[in-house]
Amino acid sequence: MENNISLTLKVWRQNGPKDKGRFETYKLDKVSTDSSFLEMMDILNEQLVNEGKEPVAFDHDCREGICGMCSLYINGRPHGPDDDVTTCQLHMRKFKDGETITIEPWRSAGFPVIKDLIVNRNAFDTIIAAGGYTSVSTGGVPDANAIPIPKVDADEAMDAASCIGCGACVATCKNGSAMLFVSAKVSHLALLPQGKVEAARRAKNMVAKMDELGFGNCTNTGACEVECPKGVSISNIARLNREFLKAKLAD
Ligand code: SF4
Ligand code: FES
Repeated sequence: MENNISLTLKVWRQNGPKDKGRFETYKLDKVSTDSSFLEMMDILNEQLVNEGKEPVAFDHDCREGICGMCSLYINGRPHGPDDDVTTCQLHMRKFKDGETITIEPWRSAGFPVIKDLIVNRNAFDTIIAAGGYTSVSTGGVPDANAIPIPKVDADEAMDAASCIGCGACVATCKNGSAMLFVSAKVSHLALLPQGKVEAARRAKNMVAKMDELGFGNCTNTGACEVECPKGVSISNIARLNREFLKAKLAD
């Protein structure tokens, strides 16, 4: 049943990467529990514009849990209090009337703040460019069934490929480690025949790039798996470690 709730929002405001930043508090009335979290942010911005104030900058694109853009830390959890959903899939029915909601950007050395709640996640693209692809020689289109793939490998590869690159794993990790993200990318290709040719180079280059960009070491806390909106398993980190070791031994 739809209800209207009143909220107090503590929102991180930061004019740019060099600004110190601070929390600002806003009151919002008559928010429908049927609205999504990002719709609630839209209502807040409309209110701020009507008051002649600057709206809050936040990232979003698909609003369907696909693109990984909506990176908000809500009441101390990446993507908020619901499990296995992105911020754009979070609904206001998860919050109570009169509640105070604290909204922050991802906080990690690897993701510097651009403005307010928007962070620069270019580091993930740089890691992908270091090896998260397969090289193909162009030519005739091969028959789709020409390369048989065991079902269990295909399933595990698809699970790993469900990573949307949102960065929640990094944001929640006390070490700021990107191991869950990198392991998902390495795993989904390492499990498939098409990805095996470049597997050694991929594992070494992506891990080296991750280290170079200042992401921390993994100490197996498991926080990344808990907060991942796509349920990417830390068993992928074990596979990444195996792939990396194999590549190093081959050297
Ligand atoms: S592994 Fe999960 S939390 Fe990390 S970037 Fe991918 S989808 Fe987001
Ligand atoms: S806006 Fe695309 S996943 Fe949330």
